[in-house]
Amino acid sequence: MSNALPDGVERHAFGGGGGDGDDNDRLATRGEPVYGEPTDGEWRAWDPSRSKLGAMLELEMETNLAGGDTVLYLGAASGTTVSHVADFAGPTYAIEFAARPARDLLEAAASRPRLFPLLADARKPDTYAHVVESDVDVIVQDVATRGQARVALENRQFLADDGRLLLAVKARSEDVTRDPAAVFDDVREELGAEYEVLETKSLERYHADHLGIVARPL
Ligand SMILES: C[S@@+](CC[C@H](N)C(=O)[O-])C[C@H]1O[C@@H](n2cnc3c(N)ncnc32)[C@H](O)[C@@H]1O
Repeated sequence: MSNALPDGVERHAFGGGGGDGDDNDRLATRGEPVYGEPTDGEWRAWDPSRSKLGAMLELEMETNLAGGDTVLYLGAASGTTVSHVADFAGPTYAIEFAARPARDLLEAAASRPRLFPLLADARKPDTYAHVVESDVDVIVQDVATRGQARVALENRQFLADDGRLLLAVKARSEDVTRDPAAVFDDVREELGAEYEVLETKSLERYHADHLGIVARPL
């Protein structure tokens, strides 16, 4: 596969006044709006500055994401990104351990029959292993807590052999005092126990001190 956008994600012109310049060519999916994003008919803009996965797509990383994929999403928060994912993917299991954002996530799921919110700790995959199917096509991870590589390792069991891990690493969540580059090196090395890292890219343009990683299971 290439870095083409998945089926169901398109570039779309928003902006009300009928302008159709490049500036209005924004990533978009079709679904009910969730976070006050611009809409045009069924289309809703996918804001890369509000979404690490949106940034990875905008920066043309080779995510291998395809329409209809089964997705395990770790760190769903109130559903900003996972709602876009569920607009084009197949079954989308959304793990979030904080009750407050999870309430908003439930609301985002109300109009999305393929989105399954789970109030669970991504460090304890045994607590949701009975719900999430094995061999998911993609794990998207954006937990922004210490131990981000470990979370990816612990959830490897759900990923199909030819699946992809799409990981956003926030350096400051590991250690605010360290040089982000050193933190990213450590994360890459730790991931190496169970993943082959295929691509990394700084998400700096949209998210300070974040690295996007595409990896596949070894
Ligand atoms: C940066 S926010 C996620 C934003 C979201 N991915 C989006 O783009 O819409 C990180 C989220 O991960 C959640 N989180 C952190 N550690 C977690 C864990 N171990 N299990 C489940 N959720 C976790 C936090 O509660 C928080 O809501």
